[in-house]
Amino acid sequence: MNSLTITRPDDWHLHLRDGAMLAGVLPYSAAHFSRAIIMPNLVPPVVTTADAAAYRNRIEMALPPGSTFQPLMTLYLTEATDADDVARGFQEGVVRAVKLYPAGATTNSQSGVRDIEKVVPVLERMAEIGMPLCIHGEVTDADIDIFDREAVFIERVLEPLRRRVPGLRVVMEHVTTKNGVDYVLANPKGLAATITTHHLIINRNAILAGGIRPHYYCLPVAKRETHRLALRAAATSGDARFFLGTDSAPHTDASKQTACGCAGIFSAINTMACLAHVFEEEEALDRLEAFTSLNGPAFYGLPPNEARMHLKRAADPIAFPPRIETGEGPVTVFDPMFPIHWFVADEAG
Ligand code: DOR
Ligand code: ZN
Repeated sequence: MNSLTITRPDDWHLHLRDGAMLAGVLPYSAAHFSRAIIMPNLVPPVVTTADAAAYRNRIEMALPPGSTFQPLMTLYLTEATDADDVARGFQEGVVRAVKLYPAGATTNSQSGVRDIEKVVPVLERMAEIGMPLCIHGEVTDADIDIFDREAVFIERVLEPLRRRVPGLRVVMEHVTTKNGVDYVLANPKGLAATITTHHLIINRNAILAGGIRPHYYCLPVAKRETHRLALRAAATSGDARFFLGTDSAPHTDASKQTACGCAGIFSAINTMACLAHVFEEEEALDRLEAFTSLNGPAFYGLPPNEARMHLKRAADPIAFPPRIETGEGPVTVFDPMFPIHWFVADEAG
């Protein structure tokens, strides 16, 4: 197959940052995606409905002229989050979901949750009104090996939490393990997972074999090959509980290529091209649309986009830029380590 038409995709997990970085990266997401769930881990974080409305406004101001890209805002859950403010934001359509970061789990997560008990009233309120909770599912205990943090989180935190607040709609963000996939598959109701493009493509060798490669370092960290294969099977299965969240997370080269580099992979530019390659490899191009464009809206209770996207396969590999320039400095683009032949034929502004 050399061309494919799908419902225009959405990105259910995206970091856009703020200021000059926002201006530098936003056009790439807006060119391919109609909507995106915007992560709230700014400094300081987006914690109230007023913060989310102000951030949404800054995103809209940074959009290329004529763009119809719609940022779907999230709130950063803290132990001081006000349930009334959350409910009001949801009911007014300003806020679509709340994000739970265990304190210390990743970039700018210092204000995250230490004691789940403290946020139970907010979670109960969210369950009542049908508001989704997006979870960064990693424990942060120093004695837990970094490659085990997701599996341990499921056992120690997620399963007890879902029992404590039945009816809470949960998205396990960026699942990276077979454990995560199996947990979703075993729970038919109110649970879904996003999967990133890069976790379908790299395993931990990409980061560590033959030299340390900081541009493949993200959190949760890529795991061993068996896990990548489980993620591929889930993403390409068509199962409505799995959908795309790119977790495209720009950091400048200076902040990644250093003794203690930041976690994050910037893939907004070539995500759709990489996904077409992956789904073609898995003989599942007919299920790409479910993963990128149908399953996410269904979980979030939104209609799929009316617009379409045309993807084409070129005979010669496409030259994506190795890095982009932003007002904060260069940002390296995800290199999937295979020649990319697919491209989006009808980029929007
Ligand atoms: O790799 C990551 N980068 N994982 C996260 O959870 C956060 C993100 C970021 O904000 O840079
Ligand atoms: Zn993220």
